[in-house]
Amino acid sequence: ALTACGSDDESADESGLSLVSAGTLQVCSDLPYAPFEYIDEDGNEVGFDIDIAQAIADDLDLELEIVQTGFEGIQSGVALNANQCDLAISGMTITEERAGNMLFSDPYLDDNLAVLTREDTGITTLEDLEGFDGTVGAQADTTGSVEAQERGLELREYTDSGLLLQGLESGQIEAAFGNISILAYQAAQSDDLFFVDEIETGEQLGIAAELENQELIDEVNRVLAELEESGELDELEQLWFHS
Ligand code: ARG
Repeated sequence: ALTACGSDDESADESGLSLVSAGTLQVCSDLPYAPFEYIDEDGNEVGFDIDIAQAIADDLDLELEIVQTGFEGIQSGVALNANQCDLAISGMTITEERAGNMLFSDPYLDDNLAVLTREDTGITTLEDLEGFDGTVGAQADTTGSVEAQERGLELREYTDSGLLLQGLESGQIEAAFGNISILAYQAAQSDDLFFVDEIETGEQLGIAAELENQELIDEVNRVLAELEESGELDELEQLWFHS
């Protein structure tokens, strides 16, 4: 006879969702990318994305596990397709190319690109980068790296956004291309780094699941809509980006 519990199907959760491991929501994220996701002094993963992931896990009555994953594996869809995680949340821009390899949620934040530099470079506007003969940097496989390449700049790519900022601070590169959401935050935390200009790319960030997992993305969209309606999403944005 069929019983409701004790099923052998490991991938079918009590919730009826298809998960890598029953009872747990495994979420791939590329850290550090403050204030979206980073490790605090106590060794915990924290940030805007982490709070959203936690809200989704709580709503679905699942344990949250953050799986640290390089951004290349996330943005290509490889990590999701290889079942390394159920969802990816990584300040990731929804692009057409990526949407061919993964299923995106509704957008949860708007973003643009920006350029960050040091005081001594003399770069004060985007025009200063036209025909610029120095090296600029970006995190590899991001919208920022695409933008720098399209501008014909000599580009050094970093696998991790922490190393990108260190590269700018130490003089390996003269400017960094990335999303304004993190660069504004980084500039505010540092005396040496400052903000050149915003590039209005009109990006929207989304949470992703493996292409087949529409049920899970439906749940994510439902929770996102609830967070938006209750004002919690705004509160989280205030907390992580404007305080
Ligand atoms: N929004 C950019 C993109 O999708 C950068 C995201 C980088 N995220 C991260 N966690 N390192 O290309």
